[in-house]
Amino acid sequence: MDVIELSDPTDAQIRQWHDVLVAVSAGDPSAGPAPGAEHTAARLLGADRGSPERFWAVPAGDGFAAVAALRLPGGPGADRPGEIDVQVRPERRRAGLGRSLVRSAAGALRADGRPGVIAQVSAGTPAVPFLEAHGFTCVLTLRGLVLRLADLPPGRVAGLLSAGPSGYTLVRWRGTVPDEHAGALARAKDAMADLVEYEGVPWDADRVREMGELVAKRGDSLYTVAALHDGAIAGFTELVVPAGGGDRAAQYDTAVVPEHRGRRLGIWMKAAMLDWVRSELPGIREIETDNAGDNPHMLAVNEELGFLPERETREYHALVADLP
Ligand SMILES: CC(C)(COP(=O)(O)OP(=O)(O)OC[C@H]1O[C@@H](n2cnc3c(N)ncnc32)[C@H](O)[C@@H]1OP(=O)(O)O)[C@@H](O)C(=O)NCCC(=O)NCCS
Repeated sequence: MDVIELSDPTDAQIRQWHDVLVAVSAGDPSAGPAPGAEHTAARLLGADRGSPERFWAVPAGDGFAAVAALRLPGGPGADRPGEIDVQVRPERRRAGLGRSLVRSAAGALRADGRPGVIAQVSAGTPAVPFLEAHGFTCVLTLRGLVLRLADLPPGRVAGLLSAGPSGYTLVRWRGTVPDEHAGALARAKDAMADLVEYEGVPWDADRVREMGELVAKRGDSLYTVAALHDGAIAGFTELVVPAGGGDRAAQYDTAVVPEHRGRRLGIWMKAAMLDWVRSELPGIREIETDNAGDNPHMLAVNEELGFLPERETREYHALVADLP
């Protein structure tokens, strides 16, 4: 079967791509809802020259049987891993379409000089044997938790907020980090490096800004709450509200730099985020988050806030040299 690259997707191709996502989601409700059509369009139209994402599809009849996206963070030639996502219509599986798309992406990874590639998938789905058949190994297990804001006991957020540690203040911003905090936020992000070993590339102010710009380019909104000590960031927590008016926001990174740990900064910052969401984002009813299976501290913080388990996702990594 033929694989085509979509370097300048037409409206019809964007619709055909979106139809695959809808079909995959309908065939496997545990995969969660498909993104909105606008989200798909924004993502595919980001594929200009110099874009961090490339796209392939397997045409069939009037549409696509399968699609694949490969994000190349950091721009051409960066040594961070690429991020692959393959989606095959349920009725077209086990016919080698997924493998063909991985081959195309592998060619692009090699041409770009990337050493590795990662994928995030749900445990217990065909994605697991598929990735393992293509040289990937599991490097991280993430437990998906959801907090329903309506289930928060009255007074819980206010109580946690008033119990903040002395010597710290909270700041918050929407969108890309303000310049005065960019360097300190990068250092705080490095505090998470122990959780994401294979990433291994230090954060700097530019990478922090790039992440904020990427979220904005997708049409999503990034909210950040940080705790300051002597004017420097001691910890932060990030939330992303997707474009398209859904009622679920996604927790992104939360970290406390090592010398400030053990003072309940994590739960304090998350309580401040909940307070912000409740007062300014009335459409948001649920917050989802992923916790590394080996991170009992963050799991305890989330359970104390009332997050309940929903699903398990896994992060897989492959060396590009091991791909087909
Ligand atoms: C995972 C997915 C992409 C696989 O696509 P596919 O076209 O069916 O995969 P292929 O036919 O190319 O399979 C290649 C090999 O992977 C393995 N594999 C794929 N699906 C498998 C399954 N359900 N059970 C066991 N092994 C499987 C097999 O070794 C297979 O080779 P074989 O058929 O000769 O035994 C598809 O099931 C899918 O779209 N799932 C939903 C979206 C998703 O989770 N994507 C993963 C993100 S990377």
